[in-house]
Amino acid sequence: MARVFVSRQLPGAALERLRKAHETTVWSERRPPTYEQLRAHAAEADGLLTMLSDRIDAPLLEAAPRLRAVANYAVGFDNVDLAAAARHGVAVGNTPDVLTEATADLAFALLLAAARRLPEALASARNDWSDWEPTGLLGAEVWGATLGVVGMGRIGRAVARRGEGFGMTVLGSSRGSGSSLEELLARADFVSLHVPLSADTHHLIDADALARMQPTAILINTARGEIVDQAALAAALHERRIAGAALDVTTPEPLSPDDPLWRAPNLVITPHIGSATRSARERMAELAVDNLLAGLDGQPMPNQVSVTREAPAA
Ligand code: NAP
Ligand code: GLV
Ligand code: GLV
Repeated sequence: MARVFVSRQLPGAALERLRKAHETTVWSERRPPTYEQLRAHAAEADGLLTMLSDRIDAPLLEAAPRLRAVANYAVGFDNVDLAAAARHGVAVGNTPDVLTEATADLAFALLLAAARRLPEALASARNDWSDWEPTGLLGAEVWGATLGVVGMGRIGRAVARRGEGFGMTVLGSSRGSGSSLEELLARADFVSLHVPLSADTHHLIDADALARMQPTAILINTARGEIVDQAALAAALHERRIAGAALDVTTPEPLSPDDPLWRAPNLVITPHIGSATRSARERMAELAVDNLLAGLDGQPMPNQVSVTREAPAA
């Protein structure tokens, strides 16, 4: 039996399979472990099941001599230092596909919410609804508009399909295929981000990129906060250089209470709930457990994102 640490309680029954196979400790407090608490648990563990909010960096891996496998409960793995994991012979896995449709639905919900000013409309219905007004709460037409999908991977393609269903013209850009980012930004009425966070995509949407967008355009980010230069976004919204934004991801998470974004016009923010459907989260747990069981067994993980090397002989 190996020793396993799971950094949050997970929905569904997947953790039962882990408990049967290994000595499993599940963090049960309401708030997640701090970095120091995580590092202390990692120091004793053969395997970790971690959240996207857990930082698995070189010092943590350095302090975890027994560690062989990390199963991240997310499709994104920017929280894990993959190069350091490879140096330490630690396999790393993620949970793709099972959350694709749920996340695409949320991206589309945000697109519609920003287009039709739903946060303002909900508040108005409760607080100051007096008459049916020909010019009240006018928003953007989605049918016939152009949707720009940045990163035509699993989720990007699922969002593109939704766009087609809503009668939109879809432009997609990935490295080396589809439209150039510049062309997409200039033409799209809605720009939806679906690239992973990496050194290449950090601040991909910066002041220059925002300046290329139309003043009527709306930005949707369900990928990672750091892909957008948030100070530049706040300025563009306050100066009405773009028409709105909808963010499921921010830097940091949660966004600090004094962040200028909170006061920006036509901004929708949700607390990183892209994959938050019961079935997606249960299936993610199954995949993460499958990855961990395989990794601890010395087998390739079903969804492995790391290249493992043998740890150097002591
Ligand atoms: P994926 O299938 O790997 O898709 C990512 C796409 O981005 C690929 O098509 C990739 O294509 C493209 N790409 C990578 N680097 C690029 C660059 N520099 N410029 C343009 N395109 C680039 O991943 P996915 O499953 O769709 O997930 C995407 C991301 O969504 C995850 O990494 C995660 O951060 C985020 N996510 C968020 C939530 C949420 O709760 N909000 C839920 C799930 C996922 P090429 O490599 O061919 O360029
Ligand atoms: C969520 O953000 C994920 O990467 O799964
Ligand atoms: C609006 O409710 C309409 O009937 O046009």
